[in-house]
Amino acid sequence: MRRRNQRRRTNTKLEMLGKKFPNIYSLAGGKGKRLFTESLTGKESFPEETLIRMNGKVFREWEPERSKLAAAIMKDISQIGIREGMNVLYLGAAHGYTVSFISDIIRTGMIFAVEKAPQVVRELILVSAERKNVAPVLADAQDFEELGRRVPLVDFVYQDIAQQNQTEIFTRSCRAFLKPGHFGMLAVKARSIDVSRKPKEIFNEVRRTLERELVVVDYRYLDPFEKDHCLFVCKKRN
Ligand SMILES: C[S@@+](CC[C@H](N)C(=O)[O-])C[C@H]1O[C@@H](n2cnc3c(N)ncnc32)[C@H](O)[C@@H]1O
Repeated sequence: MRRRNQRRRTNTKLEMLGKKFPNIYSLAGGKGKRLFTESLTGKESFPEETLIRMNGKVFREWEPERSKLAAAIMKDISQIGIREGMNVLYLGAAHGYTVSFISDIIRTGMIFAVEKAPQVVRELILVSAERKNVAPVLADAQDFEELGRRVPLVDFVYQDIAQQNQTEIFTRSCRAFLKPGHFGMLAVKARSIDVSRKPKEIFNEVRRTLERELVVVDYRYLDPFEKDHCLFVCKKRN
């Protein structure tokens, strides 16, 4: 990965964000919330990351403008349900930015990172080459037969695909791959569902659809980090 223009800091203190956000750190001392994870590779994964060195470890800044999960944490979502050791199904991995931070969080677990665009998967493969806990899967999230052959039952499902039937794909994925009692997260882009309707109306409708088979534990609108997006945290019933 690229090495130029990295922003490095030393002598800065980080503290764990809280019990419900294991392995996620924030700058200590009232300087406003900025998120960090301990780099699994001991270095940056993407260009221009801000790195902090503390107690012999390297921490990477996680930018909410580039990751909907980070944006939801910045907006004080109550919990995310991802912990060390978990196996994760990630639908819509793109080039792997958010994947790389989940990889830092779960550490000994495994992420099955599904992406359907071959040109993007090439970059994802570079991320996985340095991270043994990322398995790139070139597949369509709607191809359940293919995913069934390549993905086991998981502890967490994360979905970020800007598709009109994104809610249906998410509920089907949770039905097929998520262990009972475990969590999933759905990032919804209102404009992918219907450009002509008000985003909040769409989010309410998505929520009602999710509640037919999952418990919606929390949700956050992601503005100002992502316009007209909402992230839902759901729990699969036992
Ligand atoms: C908004 S981007 C994801 C960004 C990424 N989650 C992150 O935070 O770094 C959406 C991605 O989903 C992929 N995608 C869309 N529909 C898909 C599908 N049916 N199956 C798999 N990937 C899909 C797109 O190719 C695109 O790379």
